[in-house]
Amino acid sequence: MSNLTRFGISIDKKLLQKFDKLIENSYDNRSEAIRDLIREEIIKNEWEDSEEKASGSLTLVYNHHKRKLTEKMLKIQHNHHHLFKSNLHVHLNHDFCLEVIILQGKIRQLQQISEKLIGLKGVKHGKLVFTASGKEFVED
Ligand code: NI
Repeated sequence: MSNLTRFGISIDKKLLQKFDKLIENSYDNRSEAIRDLIREEIIKNEWEDSEEKASGSLTLVYNHHKRKLTEKMLKIQHNHHHLFKSNLHVHLNHDFCLEVIILQGKIRQLQQISEKLIGLKGVKHGKLVFTASGKEFVED
């Protein structure tokens, strides 16, 4: 049995036209676009609660010649191994490495640990991007 529920929305004509224009290249229909908007809002709302669990990817670019940097990075990851799920490492050139680390855990913990890694001397760029924990989604 389907879990889909239908509901009507009253909306200003011009606003709807703008919305249709916005989604015309990305979505086949309004329903999927509206579902995505709702999911996005639910995920965003969860990130505001730092005790909620989330998944995230931390991208780092660093100079592997920097004294003790890789050692420090590994130490941080092993000390909090429950948060670190997977690493992708690319040697960008002779000096620099690109690493993408997949994290899972409480938002607060992921933010703190990411700040620690990004703040290490020799890390040139770092960015943590949160995504859904997975529990937001139901089959549709
Ligand atoms: Ni490398």
